[in-house]
Amino acid sequence: MPCVKFTLYLFVCCRMTTFLLTLVACLGQAVLCTTVLSAADDLYVNITILQSATAEGAVCLDGSPPAYHLDRGHGSGVRSWIIYLDGGGWCDSILDCLNRSTDVFGSTKHLNRLGFFGGILYNSSEVNPEFYNWNRVRVKYCDGSSFTGDVEQVDPEYKLFFRGARIFKAIMKDIWIKGMKYAENAVLCGTSAGGLATILNCDKFKSLLPNDARVKCVADAGFFINGKTIFGNSDIQEMYQRIVNLHGSAKNLPSACTSAMEPSLCFFPQNVVPYVQTPLFIINSVYDTWQIKNILVPENLDPQHAWKDCKKHINNCTFSQRIIIQAFGVEFLKTFEGLCPSFTRGYFLTSCYSHGGIRSAAYWFSASSPRLLNKTINEAVADWYFERAGFQYIDLYPCARDC
Ligand SMILES: *[C@@H]1O[C@H](CO)[C@@H](O)[C@H](O)[C@H]1NC(C)=O
Ligand SMILES: *[C@@H]1O[C@H](CO)[C@@H](O)[C@H](O)[C@H]1NC(C)=O
Ligand SMILES: *[C@@H]1O[C@H](CO)[C@@H](O)[C@H](O)[C@H]1NC(C)=O
Ligand SMILES: *[C@@H]1O[C@H](CO)[C@@H](O)[C@H](O)[C@H]1NC(C)=O
Ligand SMILES: *[C@@H]1O[C@H](CO)[C@@H](O)[C@H](O)[C@H]1NC(C)=O
Repeated sequence: MPCVKFTLYLFVCCRMTTFLLTLVACLGQAVLCTTVLSAADDLYVNITILQSATAEGAVCLDGSPPAYHLDRGHGSGVRSWIIYLDGGGWCDSILDCLNRSTDVFGSTKHLNRLGFFGGILYNSSEVNPEFYNWNRVRVKYCDGSSFTGDVEQVDPEYKLFFRGARIFKAIMKDIWIKGMKYAENAVLCGTSAGGLATILNCDKFKSLLPNDARVKCVADAGFFINGKTIFGNSDIQEMYQRIVNLHGSAKNLPSACTSAMEPSLCFFPQNVVPYVQTPLFIINSVYDTWQIKNILVPENLDPQHAWKDCKKHINNCTFSQRIIIQAFGVEFLKTFEGLCPSFTRGYFLTSCYSHGGIRSAAYWFSASSPRLLNKTINEAVADWYFERAGFQYIDLYPCARDC
């Protein structure tokens, strides 16, 4: 797949050569962005438990039915749909999934009936000016595989079900009947494991919608790179391999990707994004805290807790920790640069030492939200979605910052 990667390549090289110089400058700066939640940001929506899905075997890890929250659109938004996929990591072994099956990330038995709708899901035009009157759906995450699993056999010892892909299908079918079949506009989005699920299920989502609908996907904090730990090991790659094996995910990943490489590698956005045909917007931090905490410095590699305070707040990192974090950022950009350029793609890459949050007004659209080219994430995504302007921009700030 030949492509031109010129500009970003130069950019990454420049960053590498200047990064030590600029690091000193970065240490001297305290960038304070407070995350003030708007007082209006308090919408809670009743749950829909999809009991009928159990007939198709579309169930959470513990066998309970899947669930979602739906807030109906109105006015000009009545034929427009936003589907937001919740995040919450993954489970990669029977015991790990067993643990998860007893909490809200693996079961709908103990769920709060009311789901919080903020940011991209909020219903007022002040906080969410472009999507506030759309039909807005928040899908609960209870499978531990980013909605990709499908194993027919139930785990004999603990009665665990690996059915994430069936859950996705069953919920889409239900909201299709409830009006999504008439959609003129549709967005699939999600944060973290839900952001990854967005990328992995994007073309599948598109195929469910009317041909002439404008369908796009927005992945927030879901661009997990196949990076190495501080000791140079490929822990995340091994973890993704265990997830894909345990959940039988391979057959539900884009087949153009799985036929080109070892299927579990298609769980990495860097490998699968080139095969996603539906327009995709990627929101991520180059210094994503989840990735620093779990890909670069997993808990077990830090028995002395030397990274504990640094993981909590960038201000608490030592000089050498900052260099390691900055090198991770360079690696992240090199990986991102490896994607072929695409005119339909959008991206908004920040330098914030944080992990996503389009469901929070503070991150999505407020006076204190991160801005690039003076646009908030809401403005960048909406301009791209409605084709008023493309948006492909990376924060040039040369190290992780507090925002
Ligand atoms: C939420 O929906 C359930 C049915 O799914 C209904 O029994 C319950 O009364 C609703 N609660 C509220 C607060 O609307
Ligand atoms: C079980 O899950 C909880 C979070 O839900 C976590 O804090 C705990 O470490 C897990 N235990 C094991 C043994 O994985
Ligand atoms: C948002 O929804 C809540 C709950 O249904 C309602 O009370 C409120 O008036 C709505 N806000 C707007 C701006 O429509
Ligand atoms: C970490 O940084 C924050 C913000 O600068 C500060 O308030 C806090 O005391 C620091 N904690 C430690 C343990 O250094
Ligand atoms: C940035 O945007 C804000 C609000 O959208 C506006 O008030 C401000 O003037 C803009 N700043 C610049 C430098 O364009």
